[in-house]
Amino acid sequence: MAQRRWLVTGGLGFIGSAFVRLVLRERDDVAVTVLDALTYAGNPANVAEVAGDPRYRFVQGDIADAVRVDEAVGDGVDAIVNFAAETHVDRSILDPEAFIRTDVLGTHVLLEAVRRHGIARYLQVSTDEVYGHVESGVSTEADPVCPRSPYAASKAGGDLQVLAYHTTYETPVLITRGSNTYGPYQYPEKLIPLFVTNLLEGEQVPVYGDGLQVRDWLHVDDHARGIAHVLEHGTPGHVYNLGGGNSRTNIELTRELIRLTGRSFDESVRYVTDRPGHDRRYALDATKARSLGWFPRVDFANGLADTVAWYRAREDWWRPIKSGAFRDYYRRQYALR
Ligand code: TYD
Repeated sequence: MAQRRWLVTGGLGFIGSAFVRLVLRERDDVAVTVLDALTYAGNPANVAEVAGDPRYRFVQGDIADAVRVDEAVGDGVDAIVNFAAETHVDRSILDPEAFIRTDVLGTHVLLEAVRRHGIARYLQVSTDEVYGHVESGVSTEADPVCPRSPYAASKAGGDLQVLAYHTTYETPVLITRGSNTYGPYQYPEKLIPLFVTNLLEGEQVPVYGDGLQVRDWLHVDDHARGIAHVLEHGTPGHVYNLGGGNSRTNIELTRELIRLTGRSFDESVRYVTDRPGHDRRYALDATKARSLGWFPRVDFANGLADTVAWYRAREDWWRPIKSGAFRDYYRRQYALR
């Protein structure tokens, strides 16, 4: 019997759906309501394996719409976990407005719902990008936010609202800041699924600038486990960094993806004009989350090989995406580069 009820916003996206699958698989006493706007990145197929579970309920709606949020809260939830966000830096450069609506205004609407309904816990899923780029060393939770892209600024705006609600109204909030995440069901605009699917299709991969930018990679299952762990064990008002501990330059990673797909480097790589304001490096200190008892379990080499195998096996999942509206986006994003 479900005793805890969690509202998962953005639960049909990449990290949100991994969280929903994990929770329904590993916690018998939790029922989940997903509120998702079904924008381009939300996909019911991502939760197909748990959608028949009686503890699963779906409400379609936007987190910036207070009426829909109230409908999703229904006669009460114990926690809201907010995954709903516009997340892609390149899209934020083309069109920042949607980011401010969802990531800032949407967060505000959820915080108001937490206050109005007296919800016991609110967890904001955030990102290492709010710290801005770090030339050396690692970002700790005590570091100031210094966002440099419209996306990162919208997430930082959401985070600051969350922390301000804790200070002002004692709203029981938590924030997790994850590093770059990879794994199954990731929309193919992000580096790993874009490159893997391009390589599987025999296409080239567009490497921005010199490819020497550094990202720290975290498997989506470890990310989802970290969020559940912080939700259950974290201290309200605190931020927890969830870093993967797998720092790679983009070109090193690209080389590995080319190897795993059996393609040739020279034929596959196309260096293209860099992203404007491109953050050179992100790196997280995850000591605080580790002291709480969370640590990543997926080895990067295995995780990457399994991810490539998943995309190889699941053309039924990514081909319809890549042949739809994605095509126009890809043209708009890459044609002039
Ligand atoms: P991305 O997956 O967009 O995540 P983020 O910008 O949030 O880190 O990009 C990861 C890195 O890969 C980043 O340094 C930009 C780079 N990149 C490319 O070189 N080419 C691409 O086509 C994409 C999408 C990203």
